Amino acid sequence: MPHVKYFEIVRNVINENIQNITMQKGLLQNEAYQEVVRYLKQNSAQWSSGRQPVICYHDPLCRIAYLYGIVPANANLVEIIFSEDRELREYINFLINKKSVIIVSAFGGGPGTELLGIIKYLEYKRSRFGKPIYLDFLILDRVTEWLDSWLALKREIERRFENNIGPDRNTWPVIFSGNFSGVDITNTSNFGNLGNLFMQDICILSYLLSEIFDEFDNFIIFLKDMVTYSAQGSKFLFIDRRGPIWENIVREISERVGLELSEFQYTRRNMDPDEQVTDLGKLYEDVGRNPRVTWDAFWVVGIKR
Ligand SMILES: C[S@@+](CC[C@H](N)C(=O)[O-])C[C@H]1O[C@@H](n2cnc3c(N)ncnc32)[C@H](O)[C@@H]1O
Repeated sequence: MPHVKYFEIVRNVINENIQNITMQKGLLQNEAYQEVVRYLKQNSAQWSSGRQPVICYHDPLCRIAYLYGIVPANANLVEIIFSEDRELREYINFLINKKSVIIVSAFGGGPGTELLGIIKYLEYKRSRFGKPIYLDFLILDRVTEWLDSWLALKREIERRFENNIGPDRNTWPVIFSGNFSGVDITNTSNFGNLGNLFMQDICILSYLLSEIFDEFDNFIIFLKDMVTYSAQGSKFLFIDRRGPIWENIVREISERVGLELSEFQYTRRNMDPDEQVTDLGKLYEDVGRNPRVTWDAFWVVGIKR
């Protein structure tokens, strides 16, 4: 049984935060959840509008809606991609054998969705490797307010390992550190100060391109620097909703920044059976709306040669 369970973790993070948010906003809990449902509907409409979506991530209730409605499915998708993609699997094996630590960065990582998915994947991997796996994880996101959800989510993973396995981190399946940096990846003005960014083994761009498509030219300047300075063989994992528009954009971006793309892969399915919305407990009744449990997405790995 994995220690990382997506619905349980977001449930605990939301339950821990909702009281403070309602107090801050002067709302009753049921009013706050009505607002969460409004955001769930509004955000879906924005993402399918065909224009650059306007998502109010600065509002804590919009972030709660994202945690509740989207994070579990997106985390599960990341986990499945890591276990199904041959290029990534072989690279992770190589990193575990050859390096003391795997360094991963999530561009537009929000609350840390990708960390959840990778840790659950590595939990399974650890039993095959029989040795500790060290992970250094960095989120770059322009919405600095994500920090509250990110810290709560990281603490929740640590708490689960601690309660289920014990306080000695060396016995945990994945020994991880995580940081959050409030960086706008379409603005390179401070980029010269971010030298450590160049050392990533894997950069993940999950549901990011579909959110910045009015700003591609600036994003390409940023990505080009990342690619130029990253080590040979580093991987850039693009994940987004299926559709020729996004695939063509990834092709164009990759050509312009000098990434060699592996084959595009497609996935349309439900979340894994060990993840059930009922794990949300009372929160599921309180919100009264289904979170997303399916996806129709593509992924492709860009390789620095
Ligand atoms: C759809 S969410 C994806 C979050 C996460 N990667 C996932 O898969 O659940 C898009 C994220 O991109 C971030 N974002 C949007 N524009 C950005 C920019 N210019 N620079 C950095 N982050 C950005 C948003 O704040 C948000 O967290």
